[in-house]
Amino acid sequence: MCGIVGYIGKNPAQSILIEGLKRLEYRGYDSAGIAIYNQEDINIMKTKGRLANLEEKLDGNHLEGTIGIGHTRWATHGAPSDHNSHPHASHNDKIVIVHNGIIENYMELRDELIEKGYAFKSETDTETVSHLVFDYYKESNDLFEAVMKAIKRLEGSYALGVLCKDNPEELIAARKDSPLIIGKGDGENFIASDIPAILEHTRDIYLLENGEAAVIKRDSIEIFDMEEKTVEKEIFHVDWDIASAEKGGYDHFMLKEIFEQPQVVKDTLLPRLTDKGVQLDDINLNKEDLDKINKIYMVACGTASYACLVGKYLLERVARVPVVAEVASEFRYREPILDENTLVIVVSQSGETADTLAALRMAKDAGARVMAVVNVVGSSIARDADDIFYTLAGPEIAVASTKAYSCQLGAMYLIAAHIAILKGKMSMEEYKELKDELMSIPDKIEKILDQQDAIKTLAEEYIAAKNVFYIGRGLDFAVCMEGSLKLKEIAYVHSEPYAAGELKHGPIALIEDDTLVFGIVTQEELNEKTISNLKEVKARGASIITIALEGNEKAKKISDHVIYVPRTHWMLTSILANIPQQLFAYYVSVGLGHDVDKPRNLAKSVTVE
Ligand code: F6R
Repeated sequence: MCGIVGYIGKNPAQSILIEGLKRLEYRGYDSAGIAIYNQEDINIMKTKGRLANLEEKLDGNHLEGTIGIGHTRWATHGAPSDHNSHPHASHNDKIVIVHNGIIENYMELRDELIEKGYAFKSETDTETVSHLVFDYYKESNDLFEAVMKAIKRLEGSYALGVLCKDNPEELIAARKDSPLIIGKGDGENFIASDIPAILEHTRDIYLLENGEAAVIKRDSIEIFDMEEKTVEKEIFHVDWDIASAEKGGYDHFMLKEIFEQPQVVKDTLLPRLTDKGVQLDDINLNKEDLDKINKIYMVACGTASYACLVGKYLLERVARVPVVAEVASEFRYREPILDENTLVIVVSQSGETADTLAALRMAKDAGARVMAVVNVVGSSIARDADDIFYTLAGPEIAVASTKAYSCQLGAMYLIAAHIAILKGKMSMEEYKELKDELMSIPDKIEKILDQQDAIKTLAEEYIAAKNVFYIGRGLDFAVCMEGSLKLKEIAYVHSEPYAAGELKHGPIALIEDDTLVFGIVTQEELNEKTISNLKEVKARGASIITIALEGNEKAKKISDHVIYVPRTHWMLTSILANIPQQLFAYYVSVGLGHDVDKPRNLAKSVTVE
């Protein structure tokens, strides 16, 4: 989610890199840096904060040279700071790299390199790669070979730009699961994480695929696969304008972010799943601490509070500890009972939401232990919490939360399993079964996204709906809350989420001919009950769309339309069932001509109460 720009040519690199990084500013970042070779050394300038801060530092310290790499960082490993900013150099400044992605095995590699005598200056996973490349480089003095050897050791995702002081005529690029493109110019070539960064200079692009690497010189670009065999590639000619290039060719950021979910959920889940249990590096709760805790509060606002609801259902059921899930604006003013035996889990994408932050501070003042599930590293909530789970969704630009929410659900699954294991309520067999399913979730999300056209058609069919109900039971009820909020906030359609069993206590009076009802039916032991509630609304004239697990024929029979999601472990259905709701709300909003990414009256970060 960070930004990369690289240049090799005849023109001064500094302005090309800075201008390129400015084109990536819209994605959000917390620090920036560039490295340029000046015929003797590779000089690095980097800083925490905005690009303007970097430009200020460069004022009077211009970096000469015509080959360089630049980076805007969105912190994942290590807080935003000068020393954690990219580029990162090997200990002797010979190898300098920029990196996007997450190196999952960086701790092992770091230990191995420390044992060999390498000293680290940052807390980043990236710095490991600069030392590792150097370690191989010193054996052969061949930069490409060293990069290839290094990337074969990496687990996780990476887009890399690599410079070497001894080989100033080439720039090496490599990618796996993080985007990287090469721009072909005339006597100059470029690399970038995103097309807008280089669109001003060239529209002829090579799209690197997973497992490919390239040697880029002023007049040549050679692309190789992991076996180092040459790959012949067609040029992709970009005819997008800057605005659509920023959205990666999608019509809106929201749609782009919906489609990023398989990757960001993978980034959030997979590195934390080990054979021995869930590895949560920034959470220090141990069995003794948990034995003292007699109550958990889960507190957040809006979408994040629906992640809490899922967390509550799971924690109570698998860890057998009482949990209250509550919106922060209520929690903070009602004098809840808090003491050193209380654990308060706050959830926030931005880490700056005023009510959530106030709830956290109140809990801390009362002596409670506070765990935060946060997307923005170094945010106020992350700084104040005792334990942290960072969701790795990357910057979310659309106001309506999609990918951050899916990663919050991922966090709920892992935290519930972790606490259940510590409390002896989940066996290793049960954990292994859950782990295998968790690992398949990104592919299952992908399968649901493949139904995009069918969901768009449904949205068009029901575009005139004025009142929409979302009904479900148990974990499906939490899914309803989020589905209904999405439709309200971006499509401005009135909708109500209801626990299916509550319908006949009042709201069923609102059901009339053609009222649209979504039935969420993914909890096997509750399906029959929800289906009979759906029959009740059907009998009163409602149109029904169900979201059900593949093979649920009963749900299909009662519905006007069914959207199937792949079968999975009962704990994990919410993340899958929510994806069709996101697409439905998106297409209704588009169909009604609304500003999807910036819905009326809403702000991305609510820093006032
Ligand atoms: C809805 C949405 C909001 C946020 C809420 C909390 O799509 O994004 O409901 O979830 O404002 O924001 P964070 O997670 O930043 O604390």
